[in-house]
Parts: sequence; C-alpha cells; structure tokens
Amino acid sequence: MLVTAKDMLDKAKAGKYAVGHFNINNLEWTKAILQTAEELRSPVILGVSEGAGKYMGGFEVVTAMVKAMDKSLGITVPVALHLDHGTYEGCYKCVKAGFSSIMFDGSHFAIDENIQKTTELVHVAHNLGLSIEAEVGAIGGEEDGVVGRGECADPAECKMIADLGVDFLAAGIGNIHGVYPANWEGLSFETLEAVNKAVGAMPLVLHGGTGIPDDMIAKAISLGVAKINVNTECQLVFRDATRAYIEAGKDQQGKGFDPRKLLAPGVEAIKAKVKEKMELFGSVGKA
Ligand code: 13P
Repeated sequence: MLVTAKDMLDKAKAGKYAVGHFNINNLEWTKAILQTAEELRSPVILGVSEGAGKYMGGFEVVTAMVKAMDKSLGITVPVALHLDHGTYEGCYKCVKAGFSSIMFDGSHFAIDENIQKTTELVHVAHNLGLSIEAEVGAIGGEEDGVVGRGECADPAECKMIADLGVDFLAAGIGNIHGVYPANWEGLSFETLEAVNKAVGAMPLVLHGGTGIPDDMIAKAISLGVAKINVNTECQLVFRDATRAYIEAGKDQQGKGFDPRKLLAPGVEAIKAKVKEKMELFGSVGKA
C-alpha cells in the first residue's frame, strides 16, 4: 500500500516508536525491505537519494518498480516512497514521477532562502497529496556526493520551518551520514530536547542511523524522533555477505555464478539488518 509518510509518523511520535527509512539502490534492496516490513507487520519508508534515482534509470523507473512490486508481492503494510535529501529541482521531478513523499534539504541555504523554498514546496506537495520533510542544521558526512559539516540545529529556526506546515522535520543534532568516527561526540540530546519542545507534536527525523548505539536510539525516540534513516549499514552487510560468498569460492561451484544465487546472501543480510532495526525502533506490529 503506497501512502504518504504523514500518518505513519504522526502515529509513531504519539506511540513513542520510530519508523525506519531504508535507502534503496536496486530491485534486490527494494524487495528485501518490502518483504521484511510485510513479515513484521511494520510500516516502512523507502528512501531514494537523487544519486540512487539516477542509478536506477530515473525517478519514473523507481516509482513504477515500487508500485508494481508492492502489488505483485501483495504488500499490505503502509509503504511510503520518499525522496531523500532532495534539491529544489529534484523535489519537482519526484512529485511528477509519482512519489508519495519528498524531502527538501534546504539546510545549506541561509534560513530565509530555506524558508522561501520550503514554503513553496510544502504548498506543491500538499496540493498533490504528498508528505514533505524539511531540514534545519546540516547532517555531517557525505552521502551521494552531498557533503555536510554536521552542525546542531537552532530550535528557533526549527520552529520557523515547522510552522510552514512541513509534515516532519530533520534537525541536525550531531548526527552524520556513514560510519561514525572513533572520536564522535555522540548525539546532542540537549539540542534534541529543545527542538522537540519548539516544534510540539511534529515528528522529528534522525538521519545517519548507521552505527548509533541502541541506547542513544532509544533516548532519541523518547525525545520525539519518529523516523530513523538507515543506509550505510545495509550496504555494509550486503558487501560482507557477498564477499564471504565469493571468498568461499561459491560463485565457482555449479551455477553459483547465477546472479540470483550470487546476490542471495547479500539480500538475506539486508533482510536481517532491516528486521533488527525495526525491532529496535519499535515499529514491529504497528502496521
Ligand atoms: P547512514 O548512511 O549513516 O545510515 O545515513 C542514512 C541517511 O541519513 C539517509 O538520509
């Protein structure tokens, strides 16, 4: 069931759990995530970065694949197809391609320009029945060529953006994309608490979910986080399982080179990782 991310995240914030946003890269990724969500009766958000959209042949291809797969696999849990860290132009492309949700990442603009562009895109998204995420305070690290410094959001600016009518808000709280460096200082719960107070019932989004310790995840959820983005962790377990298969020489045995066999361990590893995260986030059985 392709839906916007609004209802599932409003429910998650009220119920003190989080819905996982898992980035997709191809058919295998999409299928693994959808099947796991269905098995666990969990709502789920499929995140698509602009780079991944391009890789898959364009946003239209992604929408067609997700909609068809949702139907053919008989998925009954709520699924949102969401643009991750969208540019202004990318948001329009995804609206046109039939996504059910978009993120406009205007965090690198001055706050006035972020407000102006977010206002316009909120209007466009809501007129067409999509949900929209905005961002204040950059998420550090690098994702698909988008590099952020990782600064904590200003709660007053968060309130300004929230008041524009966005459906959920990503606020930088010291989180970064990719693997956390050994000297990472951890999440700023002080910032999160202040932002949560400033935005009221609005669900908050935690990017850079890879490698955040379980106790910090639990605390973040208790302070208003209702959507957690995970990308790198699925890539790493896929890599490790594929490497193990090849290093064991299994691709050389019989028809072990068949892509359906070659990619199977990686797919199973993604399923296990998504299951682990859904259990940790508390979204199991919430569909
Ligand atoms: P990670 O790659 O660190 O899990 O971050 C994912 C993310 O925030 C996508 O927007």
